[in-house]
Amino acid sequence: GDPRLEAISAAIRVVPDFPKKGIMFQDITTLLLDHKAFKHTIDIFVDRYRDMQISVVAGVEARGFLFGPSIALAIGAKFIPLRKPGKLPGKVISESYELEYGHDRLEMHVGTVEPRERVIIIDDLVATGGTLSAAISLLESQGAEVVECACVIGLPEVKGQHKLKGKPLYVLVEPSGVDEFC
Ligand code: PRP
Ligand code: MG
Repeated sequence: GDPRLEAISAAIRVVPDFPKKGIMFQDITTLLLDHKAFKHTIDIFVDRYRDMQISVVAGVEARGFLFGPSIALAIGAKFIPLRKPGKLPGKVISESYELEYGHDRLEMHVGTVEPRERVIIIDDLVATGGTLSAAISLLESQGAEVVECACVIGLPEVKGQHKLKGKPLYVLVEPSGVDEFC
């Protein structure tokens, strides 16, 4: 395989039982501390998307903000933040999604994409796919074309993939021997 992917995997710290028992937390703050591995992460996404006529990178608060803007700058796209509720000052559209207990919401400023603009959605990690599904709905409601969702981390059999409205999912690394993670 690509040695860069091994470096990325090795730089992600796995914290057992965080934020609660049974969860293997995938901590990308250690990836951000490792210049080489962080650079590889951005480079792989940039190589993949630079010639795909992507004009928008949308990133999911909070951890999608750590990767999305670097990719957007490198491929010549604009960056759109998809935020948790009540943070954006302009006119927003809002989409709620299920959590294990209760639900949360993502918001996006209207008027930030043109119809048929080609978008990729970036986050650090996909687990159930609920977050990315809400992100897809926001962009599609504005007429954008969601080309792909991209995450640093995903499960080999991401249950979420079925939820992603048929959109392709691109994932760099897959934690092994893990059933539940976040
Ligand atoms: C985590 C992670 C993804 C999402 C994945 O974010 O960063 O965004 O959960 O889970 P899902 O596929 O089951 O929806 P979280 O909302 O915990 O917070 P943060 O990014 O603001 O830290
Ligand atoms: Mg998140």
